Amino acid sequence: MKFTVSNLSSSMFLLVLFIALVSHTHGSKIDHHRSNKHVALFIFGDSFLDAGNNNYINATTLGQANFWPYGETYFKFPTGRFSDGRLISDFIAEYANLPLVPPYLQPGNSNYYGGVNFASSGAGALVETFEGSVIPFKTQARNYKKVAALLRHKLGSSETKSLLSSAVYMFSIGSNDYLSPFLTHSDVLNSYSHSEYVGMVVGNLTSIIKEIYKRGARKFVFMTLPPLGCLPGTRIIQLEGKGKCLQELSALASLHNGVLKVVLLQLDKQLKGFKFALYDFSADLTLMVNHPLKYGLKEGKSACCGSGPFRGVYSCGGKRGEKQFELCDKPNEYLFWDSYHLTESAYKKFADLMWGFTNNSSNIGPYTIGDLFQLP
Ligand SMILES: *[C@@H]1O[C@H](CO)[C@@H](O)[C@H](O)[C@H]1NC(C)=O
Ligand SMILES: *[C@@H]1O[C@H](CO)[C@@H](O)[C@H](O)[C@H]1NC(C)=O
Ligand SMILES: *[C@@H]1O[C@H](CO)[C@@H](O)[C@H](O)[C@H]1NC(C)=O
Ligand SMILES: *[C@@H]1O[C@H](CO)[C@@H](O)[C@H](O)[C@H]1NC(C)=O
Repeated sequence: MKFTVSNLSSSMFLLVLFIALVSHTHGSKIDHHRSNKHVALFIFGDSFLDAGNNNYINATTLGQANFWPYGETYFKFPTGRFSDGRLISDFIAEYANLPLVPPYLQPGNSNYYGGVNFASSGAGALVETFEGSVIPFKTQARNYKKVAALLRHKLGSSETKSLLSSAVYMFSIGSNDYLSPFLTHSDVLNSYSHSEYVGMVVGNLTSIIKEIYKRGARKFVFMTLPPLGCLPGTRIIQLEGKGKCLQELSALASLHNGVLKVVLLQLDKQLKGFKFALYDFSADLTLMVNHPLKYGLKEGKSACCGSGPFRGVYSCGGKRGEKQFELCDKPNEYLFWDSYHLTESAYKKFADLMWGFTNNSSNIGPYTIGDLFQLP
């Protein structure tokens, strides 16, 4: 399937429908009846959700966070998470009464009844994205297939089917497909138009999602890509930009987000039993960047850990070539932890909005994550 700007704009009607659908489902309350059986959580994607898989692969320190000060706030040791503490998925697991979901590659995983985390920092939907030092999305889906086979072996096919179909599947994927050409100075974006490139990324993403659906998944959680040009690490790419957002990158992200919405609505029609939550991470993150005080934060543009303007130089921890770096005293006052990733206190705010605790969770729909855990 190929998506272009022209059929994107002819899908404005669909987008309007989507908004109607979101507000409708929000009005009708789902019966919040708790089953005593735990609902599993499977996690896929990139460094927003990686809980340490890259500790076990031949990654470079660019794609690893297993050194101080990563993890300093909550765990008191580096786990491989790109934050000072927990990630969105860690809070979601907590709200679902699950233990922390272990990385797939962590030795000693004995059962997968509560789910498992396949995410890999640096991964993208395209296999070319940071190829060789990440677990690409396609391989993550293959690992899920292996887990499903293992479960069938242990539990039998009917119980496995029920475990996999009641489970919630979280995804954060795509950012690296757009960041990598800028960070590796590749000229791939000269070979494709923006809409062709986005079509390729979303096309691969879609076929992998269908694969995961085919293996039993039904409840999907997606996040829109953040304004990629407004991260501390991307504000400093254009020296003459004086710290303004890098427009080309943010434009790619928003093009991607538009196409993703359209695709999810199509999948919703095509795939029987497919349910999804799409969280407009971009909208809420943009508000937090520009109005941190409204969200109980003091700093929305500069990172807590790093060096140079906005602490955008990716030196947090001193193990990525540059040994010197600055570290703030109070990460919980910052939105950004390092040049590309958020603090635990920011991740908790997003997790709360995505779960649907507050009445202001208007940027997730048609379901909230809390809804998906309750649904059969
Ligand atoms: C790991 O990566 C390095 C650098 O790319 C390479 O030289 C080495 O052979 C790789 N090791 C393995 C086990 O793949
Ligand atoms: C997936 O990505 C590859 C490049 O890695 C591209 O050649 C292919 O057309 C893409 N597939 C789809 C379905 O878009
Ligand atoms: C949220 O909405 C419910 C009913 O719609 C209301 O009872 C509750 O007070 C609201 N909570 C907040 C924090 O606004
Ligand atoms: C949501 O609303 C609550 C109560 O009105 C407020 O305290 C909180 O800051 C809001 N959170 C976000 C992320 O908008």
